[in-house]
Amino acid sequence: MRRPRNRTSPAGRALPLAVVVLLSPACGGGRPAGTTEQSQDSAGPPATLVTDGERAGEEVFRRENCGRCHTLFDRPRPSGKSGLPSGPAVDLLDSRVGPDLGLEGHRRSDDWHYAHLYSPGVLVAGSRMPPSRHLFRPVSGRPVPTPEGRDLVAYLQALGRSHRDIWAEWRRREPDVPAPPPVDGLLKRRGSELYVRHCLACHGEGGDGRGELAGFFTFPPRDFVAGRYRFKSTPAGRPPEDADLFRTITLGAGTGAAMPAFYWLAAEDRWALVLAVKEFSPSLRGTGLRAEPAGSRVEEGSGAAPDRADDTSVREGRRAWESLGCASCHGSTGAGMTPREAHTSWRDGAGEETPRSGDLTHACALRGGASPRAIERALLFGVGDFMPSYAEGLPDAPTRRALVSFVLSLDGTRPADRSGP
Ligand code: HEC
Ligand code: HEC
Ligand code: HEC
Repeated sequence: MRRPRNRTSPAGRALPLAVVVLLSPACGGGRPAGTTEQSQDSAGPPATLVTDGERAGEEVFRRENCGRCHTLFDRPRPSGKSGLPSGPAVDLLDSRVGPDLGLEGHRRSDDWHYAHLYSPGVLVAGSRMPPSRHLFRPVSGRPVPTPEGRDLVAYLQALGRSHRDIWAEWRRREPDVPAPPPVDGLLKRRGSELYVRHCLACHGEGGDGRGELAGFFTFPPRDFVAGRYRFKSTPAGRPPEDADLFRTITLGAGTGAAMPAFYWLAAEDRWALVLAVKEFSPSLRGTGLRAEPAGSRVEEGSGAAPDRADDTSVREGRRAWESLGCASCHGSTGAGMTPREAHTSWRDGAGEETPRSGDLTHACALRGGASPRAIERALLFGVGDFMPSYAEGLPDAPTRRALVSFVLSLDGTRPADRSGP
C-alpha cells in the first residue's frame, strides 16, 4: 500500500526527490545538463500533484531511478517571460545525462512519452536513455502502457505547472514567420539531414507517415506524399502555404498529438525542414519557399480582439456556437468527441479515420495552436475533411471574432481576468 502523503506540505514532498537527485551519482559524471538560470526560482516542489495517478507516478519516477539522469530544477520564470527550455545541448547525445525535466508538463503529448519510454533511441536518434519496456504489455501485438506507465506519464505532465503553464502561454501566441532563406543545394541537404534526425522515426523514410513508431500515436503522423494538411490558411483541397508548415514545425501539436515543437531550431533550419517536407510531395516539390503572401492572411487586428473580449462578445460567440451546432461534434464543454460519440464516421477517402474532434478546452490541447488567429483559421478554412469551413456560414468578421472569443473562453485555465502579468 502506498504511504499516505501530506498534501498540505509541498516542501516536505520535494525533499525526498531532491535527496535522490543529489545523492545519486550523475550518469557520465558531472552535473546533469539543462540546469539553467531558471533554477534560481526553484524554491518549492517541482509539481503540485493533484490526482492519485500523478502521486503514484512520482513513486514510479523514484523507483525507476529516473533522477539518476534527470534533475527537476527548472521553474517558470517570473513576470511574463516565457523562458522555454532550449533545445538539446549539442553534446547531449554523447552523454547519458538527460535534460532537466522541471518544465516537462504539457510540453508533449502523452503518446509521445509512451513512444519515448518504449524506444528512446528510435524516437530521439542517438538517445542513450534506457528503454522502459517493462512499463508496457502487448495488446493485440502492440505495446500498451501498464497502469504504472500511465501514472508515470501523468506525473511528467504535472511537472512545472504549479504556478504558471509556460507551454499554454506560448501556444496562445501566433509564432513569428520570418522571411525564408534563398533555396540552394546547401539548404536542401541541411533539410534532409535534419529530417532524418528529427522526423523520420514518425513520418517515415519515404515521408509517407509510416515511421517505426507511428503505431503509438492516436493521431497518425502526416503522410507528406499525399500531403493532406490540416492546419493551414488555404481552402479545403488546396496545398498549404509554406508559412503554415513553418508554423506547425515551430509549434508542434502540443499535448493534442505527438508532433513535437521545434521552436528551438534556428529559423533557417525550420525553413530547411519545410523544404524537406515539400520534397516528398509530387505537387509541392521544386516550388521553392515563399513567405506568407499578404492576401492569404487572416485579417489584421483579429489577433488582438479576444484578449479584450468582454462578456458581450463571449455571449454573442456562444449564440453562434449554439446556432452553428459546434457542440454536436465537440461536445457541450468543447472537450472533443470520438466519431462514435458524435454518432458519425470520420473516415476519409483513403480509409483513414480522424480519431477525435478538437479538444478546445486547453491551449496545449489545440493541435493547430491556440492563438486567436489559429482558431480563426480553423473556422475559415476548416480542419481536414471533417471540420467544415465556416467562411460562408459566418461571413461577418465581428461575429466570427465573437465566436473566437467564445472558443478561447472554453479554456478554463486561461488567465482571462487576471490583472497584472
Ligand atoms: C541513463 C540516463 C537516463 C535515465 C536513467 C533516464 N533518462 Fe530520460 N533522458 C536521458 C537522455 C540522455 C535524454 C535526452 C535524449 C532523449 O530525449 O531521449 C532523456 C530525455 C528524457 C525526456 C525528454 C525530455 C524532452 O522533453 O525532450 C523525458 C521526458 C525523460 N527523459 C524521462 C525519463 C524518465 C521518466 C525516466 C525514468 C523512467 C528516465 N528519463 C530515465 C537519459 C536518461
Ligand atoms: C513523435 C512523432 C513525430 C515526430 C518526431 C515528428 N512529427 Fe510531424 N507529425 C506527427 C503527428 C502525429 C502529426 C499529426 C498531428 C495532428 O494531426 O495533429 C504530425 C504532423 C506534421 C505536419 C502536418 C501539419 C498539418 O498541417 O497537417 C507537418 C508539416 C509535420 N508533422 C512536420 C514534421 C517535421 C518537419 C518533423 C521533424 C522536424 C516532424 N514533423 C517530426 C508526429 C511527429
Ligand atoms: C461535423 C463535425 C464538426 C462540427 C459541426 C464542428 N467541428 Fe470543429 N472539428 C471537427 C473535427 C473532426 C476536428 C478535427 C479535425 C481533424 O483533425 O482532422 C475539428 C477541429 C476544430 C478545431 C481545431 C482544433 C485543434 O486541435 O486545433 C477548432 C478550433 C474547431 N474545430 C472549432 C469548431 C467550432 C467553433 C465549430 C462551430 C462553428 C466547429 N468546430 C464545428 C468537427 C466539427
